[in-house]
Amino acid sequence: MTTPELAERYLMQTGRRLPVTFVRGRGCLLYDDAGREYLDLVAGIAVNLLGHAHPDVVAAVTRQSAELIHTSNLYFTEPQVDLAQRLVELSFPSRVFLCNSGAEANETAIKLARKWGARNRDGAFEIISTTGSFHGRTLATVTAGGQHKYSDPFQPLPSGFVHVAYNDPGAIESATSDRTVAVMLEPIMGEIGIVPAARGYLKRVREWCDRKDLLLILDEVQTGLGRTGRWFAHQYAGITPDVMTLAKGLGGGVPIGACLANERADVFEPGDHGSTFGGNPLACAAAAAVLHVIERDGLVGHAAEMGELLHASLKDLGAKATRGLGLMQAIEFEDPKAKAFQQSCLETGLIVNAVDDHSVRFVPPLIITANEIDRAQETMRKLAG
Ligand SMILES: Cc1ncc(COP(=O)(O)O)c(C=O)c1O
Repeated sequence: MTTPELAERYLMQTGRRLPVTFVRGRGCLLYDDAGREYLDLVAGIAVNLLGHAHPDVVAAVTRQSAELIHTSNLYFTEPQVDLAQRLVELSFPSRVFLCNSGAEANETAIKLARKWGARNRDGAFEIISTTGSFHGRTLATVTAGGQHKYSDPFQPLPSGFVHVAYNDPGAIESATSDRTVAVMLEPIMGEIGIVPAARGYLKRVREWCDRKDLLLILDEVQTGLGRTGRWFAHQYAGITPDVMTLAKGLGGGVPIGACLANERADVFEPGDHGSTFGGNPLACAAAAAVLHVIERDGLVGHAAEMGELLHASLKDLGAKATRGLGLMQAIEFEDPKAKAFQQSCLETGLIVNAVDDHSVRFVPPLIITANEIDRAQETMRKLAG
């Protein structure tokens, strides 16, 4: 049986896969089981910030796995504390809960907000999030996310989530009531096809949260860690959230998530929350290596520079719209041809991500070079026409 046939037999069919089986990666290149080479502009959906098989990540994982992979959170481990310290130094004064995915990081933020509301706001519990947002697939995060297609099959959903239009601060203000405890936003909506916050949006929401004593939770699972050309996308807006979630790129491909909360929001006490694998030494060592390389190699600035180049290259393809920030870009076709375009790209050795019938997302490794972007554009120009 082929790998796709075996997958159909043994794996739950939770998503449609493209007809390719990858066996190896190096930098921005992937190789399939027939030895064909692909240029990867998706990076495991904004995960492999340093590309594939980066020597520093390989060395960190190898070294740490030979020392200590897991102990549980009944004890201290140095890689966990070191990583938390580094994340706080890079972002804002806060403390960190380490977990294993973006959904789990957001679930943590939701629980934190509820406890904070119980303690400080007379039991306020409602979280305002936006239509089209994506926060994960657990029951609470799929409800927080504003896409019915992901949540409707799982009724009844948890209560306490209100959705308003993105980029409309007035809608958040109107939806706020005595029950509201927090506003939860992506600085750029990623999964729905790269919708950046409009100028002034995050600042106005921050001011509203301050005025109404609400927590501002920013989901930087996709936008964080250099992807947009800043360490964190909210830095463009000159604001700081109360709670920020990270995952995806943090471990360079090793599963890890993080929820950071400032002093005001950090109300967890021993026994409130936990995760067996969360912050295990292996994942933390990988993440520390990722952060170290991003800093050492100036990859945040590089992402900003390559992002501009990618944006200009995509603009040249003649699509209806090109949008994004840094290395988080999308094109939108007038006709519903995004999936056919993705398939043609795959057949020509280029990995892109059709998020729906019209839009294609590009979230390549931060290490991508100008030559690789030129090469991708040459291929896409032939296919987009
Ligand atoms: C903004 C955002 N939040 C949360 C998630 C969920 O992350 P995970 O799939 O690691 O649970 C994603 C995944 O696409 C995301 O883009």
